[in-house]
Amino acid sequence: MNKIAILVGARPNFMKAAPIIQALRSRRFPLRPFLIHSGQHYDWEMSQVFFSELGLPKPDRHLGVGSGSQAEQTARVMKALEPILQEIKPALMMVVGDVNSTMAGALTAVKLQIPVAHVEAGLRSFNREMPEELNRVVTDAVSDLFFTTEKSANENLRNEGVPKNRIHFTGNVMIDSLLRLIGPARRLAQPRKMGLAPRGYALATLHRPSNVDTVSGLKGIVESLSEISGSLPVVFPVHPRTRKNLEGFGLWKKSAKKSGLLLTEPLGYLQFISLMDQARMVLTDSGGVQEETTVLGVPCLTLRDETERPVTVEVGTNILIGSDPKRIVREARKILKGGGKKGRIPPLWDGKAAIRIVTIVNRWLEGREPKTSK
Ligand code: UD1
Ligand code: UDP
Repeated sequence: MNKIAILVGARPNFMKAAPIIQALRSRRFPLRPFLIHSGQHYDWEMSQVFFSELGLPKPDRHLGVGSGSQAEQTARVMKALEPILQEIKPALMMVVGDVNSTMAGALTAVKLQIPVAHVEAGLRSFNREMPEELNRVVTDAVSDLFFTTEKSANENLRNEGVPKNRIHFTGNVMIDSLLRLIGPARRLAQPRKMGLAPRGYALATLHRPSNVDTVSGLKGIVESLSEISGSLPVVFPVHPRTRKNLEGFGLWKKSAKKSGLLLTEPLGYLQFISLMDQARMVLTDSGGVQEETTVLGVPCLTLRDETERPVTVEVGTNILIGSDPKRIVREARKILKGGGKKGRIPPLWDGKAAIRIVTIVNRWLEGREPKTSK
């Protein structure tokens, strides 16, 4: 059996890793997952909650790295991961997405001559002020196998000189999780539990440093959400980075008092997708939420100037609106009046990405080395 190490660490990693682990555990392949949690995210509602909801197994190892500066966090993951990889000798290291743990995992493995597969490879915002963009570029520079979610990613990788036979357009594993769990999420009826009517509220999430790390930026965005909430309740599950800043900038109390603005803890996956599914619109700077709203057909206003996921704009329901408070209010009003952008589902976002990925991984490993009975 070939051991496949999979590293997760931050919230969006769990939805992406779950279907891959499920596929690896099926008896169709002589492969076995070895799950490592870096501990980049550690609050119950940023990590543990997703394990039971998504059916993820308990990690085989937990690195407990916690928060820190960019370099500290990356270095801690690398330092703690290295001896584990030396011990377990995986046939392949699999990393997902674009967080610090992703880059640290790829770099540690490749330096030990362990091949790396990157799931969600090739996405580019072309904005190197984003820590995630640097993580994507570095991860792809050292990866051996590239699994992409949209055609733009294939083009980006080809432009960076990645050989064609290493790039596999397999679809979107985050959507595998969404399609598997949207039924149970609908039955949960989270909007009704919160006293909200279908299409009678907006859902907001924010956590990009460019939006939440300055007083003026965060204040402007929160004021625009407050203004929108005068016409339409806005549910705002607050990411820990954002909460820390709202409190630190003295904005928390005032925001919490606004009656139409419902500040909550970060929500579980089923609660969150249940809310997203029935929302009139979503306002976000999340990567994954841009994709999920496209699949659910819910209008999405992305509070950024660019996206590494252009298919959500070209094919889906996403509009890039930047972070100017007046524009945010204006675009939300347009949706209230006109119903918002309609879209279609991008190719291969069909719930079967993980099985395609694991099939290719297995074939690649078989071609690469003789089968062992380890
Ligand atoms: C990270 C990822 C980002 C991803 C996001 C998903 C990087 C560089 N950033 O951003 O790409 O979109 O996760 O949510 O990898 N904190 C807690 N509890 C936790 C986790 C974090 O309180 O469980 C607080 C800490 O104060 C920490 C801050 O949030 O310093 C930021 O956490 P960090 O993991 O560094 O970055 P995120 O903003 O969460
Ligand atoms: N999500 C969640 N609860 C929340 C907010 C988001 O379960 O309160 C889910 C969301 O549905 C998506 C993932 O978390 O599956 C996105 O993670 P996040 O926005 O933190 O990271 P990004 O995608 O921006 O890297």
